[in-house]
Formats: sequence, C-alpha cells, structure tokens
Amino acid sequence: MEFKTFAKSNENISLLGFGAWGIGKTMWIGAEDAESKRCLHRAIAKGVNFIDTALVYGNGHSEKLIGEVERECGKKLFIASKLPSKKLEWPARDSSKLKDSFPKDYIIQKTEESLKNLRRDYLDLQQFHVWNDKWAAEDDWKEAFQLLKRDGKVRYFGISINDHQPENCIETARTGLIDGLQVIFNIFDQSPLDKLFPFCLQNKVSIVVRVPFDEGGLTGTITPDSVFPRGDWRNNYFRGDRKNEVQQRVQKIWADVKDETDSMPEAALRYVISFPAVTTVIPGMRKENHVVDNLSSISRGPLSPALLQKLSVHRWIRNFYQ
Ligand SMILES: NC(=O)c1ccc[n+]([C@@H]2O[C@H](COP(=O)([O-])OP(=O)(O)OC[C@H]3O[C@@H](n4cnc5c(N)ncnc54)[C@H](OP(=O)(O)O)[C@@H]3O)[C@@H](O)[C@H]2O)c1
Repeated sequence: MEFKTFAKSNENISLLGFGAWGIGKTMWIGAEDAESKRCLHRAIAKGVNFIDTALVYGNGHSEKLIGEVERECGKKLFIASKLPSKKLEWPARDSSKLKDSFPKDYIIQKTEESLKNLRRDYLDLQQFHVWNDKWAAEDDWKEAFQLLKRDGKVRYFGISINDHQPENCIETARTGLIDGLQVIFNIFDQSPLDKLFPFCLQNKVSIVVRVPFDEGGLTGTITPDSVFPRGDWRNNYFRGDRKNEVQQRVQKIWADVKDETDSMPEAALRYVISFPAVTTVIPGMRKENHVVDNLSSISRGPLSPALLQKLSVHRWIRNFYQ
C-alpha cells in the first residue's frame, strides 16, 4: 500500500481509503453486516488505514461497525466522519444561514454522538457534510473547532464539498483551519482539476476523493437493464434514460483505456490516483471481491500521461443528484 502525508501533519494515510456509506444500509440497500466487516478487515489487513463515514450513514450504524472492526483488529485507524447540517440539507442551500445549519453547540453535540457510536475518545477528521463558502468569515464554526481541539475530541477538520461544486470551500480553506477537502472526482467529473487541486497543492490541504466510480456508473456494470433493490437511492440517480447514456459513454471510455488497463474499475481508480493533489480515494465497498480488486488496481499505480490526456475528452458536466 502506498501512503501519503495528511495535510501539514507528519502522519501517513493510505492512498486507498474505505468509503463506508453503503455499509450503513440506509439509502444503499443490500449490505450484510458480516460481509461489511469482512471487507473492512480485509482492507485494513492490506494497509488501508483511512476510513470515511458519517453520522447519518445508517443513523450511526456505519460508525458502529467501524468502531467494532477497529477494536477487533487492534490497529490504529485514521477515521473521518461527518456532521450533518442541522437542517438536514444536501447540498447546503445558498439561502441557508450558518446559525441554522451549524450552530456551535450543535457541532459539539453531533461530534460527541459520532464518538459514542465509534466508542472512541477522538475523531481523526471531522468534516462538514455540506458547506457554503459564504460562511467562511463567521466565528461560530471556528469557536466550535477550537473547543473540540482543546478537549482532544477532534484532531483535524475538513469539508465534504457539495456535489459538483468543487470551489465552494476555497475561501473557508484559506482560513488555515481546514486540513482535508472531500470532493467528487472521477473520469466524468474532472472539475476539481481547474482550481481546487492547484489550491490544495499550494496550501498543503489534503484531497479525499469520493465517488470515484460515479456511484457505479464507471464500473461498467450499468446497462439499461440494471435493476437496483427497492428503496435503493440509485433508482433515482440512474433514472429515466440515464443508464443508457452512462453505458454509451462508458463504452467510449473503455475503447480508450483497454490497452492499458484490465477493467473499467481499474481504469477509474488509477485515473483518480494519477493526480498528485489526491491524498486518498474512498470507493464504497460492500463486497470482499471489490476490496481485493481495488487493492490490486491501486497497486498498479497511475495511468500514463498519454492516456490521461486522452481521457480529458470524457469530462461530462451534469448533476444526477438533482
Ligand atoms: N456528500 C458526501 O459527503 C458523500 C457523498 C457520497 C459518497 N461519500 C463517501 O464516498 C464514498 C464513495 O462513494 P460511493 O460509495 O457513493 O460511490 P462509488 O465509490 O463511486 O461507487 C460505489 C459502487 O461501486 C461498486 N464497486 C466498488 N468497487 C468495485 C469494483 N472493483 N468493481 C465493481 N464495482 C465496484 C460498489 O459495489 P458494492 O457496494 O457492492 O461493493 C458500489 O456499488 C462513500 O462510501 C462515502 O464514504 C460522501
């Protein structure tokens, strides 16, 4: 496993991280706790130490499973969680105010709930689950950070940036109080390359890449006939003609990557880790064979500069979350 330095610290986090939304079992239907724990154990045994979860993933269930696995494996993990907005909004609306979304006492109270779920004294990284950069200059969030750090409850802070708005965090990160920025980055959504990555490299802010497979689209397994379980949120994400559109685009990407990679998931992960600003990538993994495949893909390293150049034409601006 390759490790990279986290932000301005001297700590190393694994280039392959673990996205733990799906194992929370709400919104994503179909995970089994025993299999989810095997996935975590398998990843950790191979060097994965960065785990991304959130208080809302299964209403604490994802955090509880991670806490159990951490105690069972006896290894020190770097656990990142997230604070939901008090308004439970995704994304944060432009009209929303900080005092309604993230009041100081609420930031502290919700962090303590995460610690209880994890049965831990501290979080390595606490992230706002949504954000609006116009809150950058306000004091409430800074005071909450100060108190949580003083009490040893959070070591580093970050923002999980609103979907497809990679620059909606830069003013806040300029305060120097933000160590990690979590962003959607994949062969379709290449927008963080424009401003966010250069900013992070220059300012030593870590990039945590989420959704490397476009929620499954870039695994090459989505066809017009794909069916998701009842109640699974991807019925909405891939609604209407979207599955067909994704398949058409992925076929074109495959034509470009097939000489250098063995599969679409491999191409998608190796694309993401080809950029030096990326500190870790956190694919969602609920199946042990996916953990094994993704470990193997990461070990093959970045794609060639010529292929990266070719892939730039596959940039696709759209928002399936709406
Ligand atoms: N707003 C936010 O802060 C936010 C939003 C979204 C995601 N996230 C974080 O980012 C993480 C990753 O995003 P995501 O899970 O939504 O999407 P993703 O990583 O783009 O895709 C996950 C999907 O890819 C499948 N998969 C994984 N490895 C595979 C492989 N080798 N071959 C074929 N399929 C494979 C998974 O299957 P299985 O599940 O069956 O293994 C799952 O269906 C989340 O778990 C969460 O931690 C944060």
